[in-house]
Amino acid sequence: MATPRTIAIDGPAGAGKSTIGALLAERLGSLFLDTGAMYRALAVAAERRGIDPDDADRLTALARDVRIVIGPPTVRDGRTYTVLLDGSDVTWEIRSPAIDGIVSLVARVAGVREAMVEQQQAIAAKGRVVMVGRDIGTVVLPNADRKIFLTASAAERARRREEELALRGQARPQVLQEILRRDMLDSTREVAPLRPADDAVTVETDGLTVGEALEKVHAAVMLPAR
Ligand code: DC
Repeated sequence: MATPRTIAIDGPAGAGKSTIGALLAERLGSLFLDTGAMYRALAVAAERRGIDPDDADRLTALARDVRIVIGPPTVRDGRTYTVLLDGSDVTWEIRSPAIDGIVSLVARVAGVREAMVEQQQAIAAKGRVVMVGRDIGTVVLPNADRKIFLTASAAERARRREEELALRGQARPQVLQEILRRDMLDSTREVAPLRPADDAVTVETDGLTVGEALEKVHAAVMLPAR
């Protein structure tokens, strides 16, 4: 079967979208784009300029003004990709607790989403892509060849997040509460809330290893479209 050209993977924070999406893209020889990293880079830009995460007008102007580029890793330090914000490397900064705290607020602004979606669609128009986020199957690529909704229980997602932080030598309190807070913000916002597209295949990853989850998603992607 021919490799689907556009694959949309959506799901809540910590479901494994980036890990699985990157591995799937590598296997299929497609470009990988983690759209969450774009919203995170914009949150870094807002923080650096002291813009209030509730200031929709300034955030919208900022989204039109900054240049966010996500490309192959430029440093071998465990990163899956490099994120440049106006040329400066913010790959790790976008994962800081401060950014975790404001990114969902930045991402709920309609003008911000418009600017990001435009860029994401332009990237998908260039060739084969695996794109991961919250609204890829519903808004960004409603005609994607395959749509996956990747999910896991909040407890499992919190456990994975703690493991990932531990690997980086970090520990944070209230990881589960933080995940639940982001789930709530992402799925109740007015514009493009997190929800499975009607034609998405839901893949649950509770209790699965990365390899097992990858096989499950790969199998779902290779099924005939729904
Ligand atoms: O996937 P992530 O945790 O890196 O995403 C960071 C935030 O960006 C998340 O709280 C929701 C938002 N986001 C979004 O609104 N739409 C997307 N397509 C991707 C992420």
